[in-house]
Amino acid sequence: MNSSSIYDGVMLPLSKIHNRAGNLTVIDGEENLPFSVSRIYYLYDIPSGETRGGHAHRELYQLIVAASGSFNVLLDDGINKKIVTLNRPDYGLLVVPGIWRELLEFSSGAICLVLASHKYDESDYIRQYEDFIEYRVK
Ligand code: TYD
Repeated sequence: MNSSSIYDGVMLPLSKIHNRAGNLTVIDGEENLPFSVSRIYYLYDIPSGETRGGHAHRELYQLIVAASGSFNVLLDDGINKKIVTLNRPDYGLLVVPGIWRELLEFSSGAICLVLASHKYDESDYIRQYEDFIEYRVK
């Protein structure tokens, strides 16, 4: 049984090194995150109106960052739902295992950077919402 809740998905403030030539954000592995990063990927060139995600993970932790632009993340634990707007590259949304997520309303030019705790593993995905609800009540 997975007892994680949408309230476990929190916004983590990231570092911001500012000078007159701009900003730099460092995510320094376990110092900042509750998991070790095994994989980084990013979504970009997302056509207007498209939705990404639409799945849950059994074991995977992720930190989702709007590296550029903005988008919304819908989090759903099978009981409660919440929508979080990501629009700052110096904040990351922690998504814990067992949470259904959808990424939507991408702005033009948005870049969604994802730091993940494990390598890609299709068997970690729950891709059907009915399967997710069944997984949550088991
Ligand atoms: P998926 O995770 O379903 O994308 P999203 O949640 O953003 O809509 O992945 C889309 C495709 O890319 C799918 O065929 C699996 C593949 N993929 C990899 O091969 N490696 C990866 O690390 C990721 C994240 C996806």
